[in-house]
Amino acid sequence: MKLSYLLSKELSRRMILVHPPEPRKDLLLAPPDDAIYLGRTRYLGTPVFWDPTKLINPHIAIVGITGSGKSYLVKSFLTRASMIWNTNAIILDWVGEYVKWVEQAGGTVIKLGKEKLNLLDLAGVEKTERIKQIISALDILLNLKQYLNERDEIEEALEEIYEKMKKPTLVDVVKHLETKKHKKAARLIKKFTIEGSDFFAGKSTLNIRELTKTGLVCLDLHELPTEEIRSLAGLTILQYIKETMRKTKVGEEKGIKLFVVLDEAWKIAQDETSDVITIVREGRKYNFALIVATQNPTDMHKTIFSNVGTMFILRLVLREFRDYVKNSIGYSEFIDQEMGKFGVGDAAINMIFAERQSRITTFLLNKIDGEEPLFQFKIKGGDMDVEIEREQFIKMLYEIGLNEGQINTLKLEFEKNDGIVEGERLVSILEKFGYSKPSIISFLRQLGIDEKNLIHIFSLVRMRKASKGVVNIVLDKKV
Ligand SMILES: Nc1ncnc2c1ncn2[C@@H]1O[C@H](COP(=O)(O)OP(=O)(O)O)[C@@H](O)[C@H]1O
Ligand SMILES: [Mg+2]
Repeated sequence: MKLSYLLSKELSRRMILVHPPEPRKDLLLAPPDDAIYLGRTRYLGTPVFWDPTKLINPHIAIVGITGSGKSYLVKSFLTRASMIWNTNAIILDWVGEYVKWVEQAGGTVIKLGKEKLNLLDLAGVEKTERIKQIISALDILLNLKQYLNERDEIEEALEEIYEKMKKPTLVDVVKHLETKKHKKAARLIKKFTIEGSDFFAGKSTLNIRELTKTGLVCLDLHELPTEEIRSLAGLTILQYIKETMRKTKVGEEKGIKLFVVLDEAWKIAQDETSDVITIVREGRKYNFALIVATQNPTDMHKTIFSNVGTMFILRLVLREFRDYVKNSIGYSEFIDQEMGKFGVGDAAINMIFAERQSRITTFLLNKIDGEEPLFQFKIKGGDMDVEIEREQFIKMLYEIGLNEGQINTLKLEFEKNDGIVEGERLVSILEKFGYSKPSIISFLRQLGIDEKNLIHIFSLVRMRKASKGVVNIVLDKKV
């Protein structure tokens, strides 16, 4: 038994030496001035270049838990793309995490909270087409298909208002519906016209078509008042991008014209009818590419998942998510096991080459080889360290409800220890701030600490409490 086990282990090691689970070198190598460098393969150390001419399409999906390195990968990738091909990029930034980086890189940051985008702008399309697009966006957002009467009334109002006025806005549509006594329909869309939430209801200050040619652009959505408005903005911007794309001359040029980046935009990456899918289906011939990043692979519509030419799988913890990815793209048990050990920046890549000879399409990268991060915090827990960018960590602390003073206390704690804090120390500080054990656990999970190490951290916390108890008793006796 033992002998045969050893033999097979030895055999598999040799198999790897003879046939490492990596694609042929010529598929990965490319002239550095014409492809994007990503890092080196784990076994042969082959430099991996992303070369869209070798792939079935230029679309990219990235999955991995918070802190696994998705945004870092996107940033490194776009930096290189703009150096090599002068590529334009539009980032739909849900939480405002790209703002600083885009500013530093000399790109354009547009804060949508301070702009207007008239939902009724035609932007070069026919009225009937635009009406269809608006209705389809409202379908996704308001579940309009459940209110078929109101849906018809809104559609009719749009038709009539376009006939009546030159440059109508949503406010005119609401008024029109009200005069026609279509109260419920008016109410459904009225929320997009109320002051403070009227991003879509005024004269446009944005020209999306221009923005697709402006280099690196971050559309910061996070100041928009609600998730619904953020999604409608995302969907509308994608519609305009799609129109721009369809008007682009189909060229022979190399490289990519525009990267459209959706980071954590699950709501619009999920829907069959959103233009994310159109860009995936038609982008290739126009040299438009989509990059979608998410922490939950099941949130991504299956058309995206099964059609992207490149998939990055970073650290994934939940068995359910890992199985979903494994079943969707199919790779060996061995690769799956290795994924289980991933740290920050480690990745498996699945590339579908245009030339179908290559049997191996999923392989391991040593680490995404990107630009050096600015400020790193490290949390030590058991046998793992979790690294997180300072800004990102602070953002997460705000999200769980810490106040300014508490955040400063924690920042100091990191800074006085060269950016490193023990997991148990973090836990006791959060406990002092009044956080319950379950909410601390969920926060640590979000940081990427796995179950085994969570148990370890909490047993240390318990031990310390117990030992403190002993000391107290002793002191009490003395007194
Ligand atoms: N390949 C990498 N090499 C070095 N540091 C990395 C790498 N990937 C991510 N990091 C660092 O880890 C932290 C979390 O990465 P981030 O990209 O924000 O994660 P995500 O977007 O998946 O939540 C950041 O501080 C980032 O600088
Ligand atoms: Mg991110």
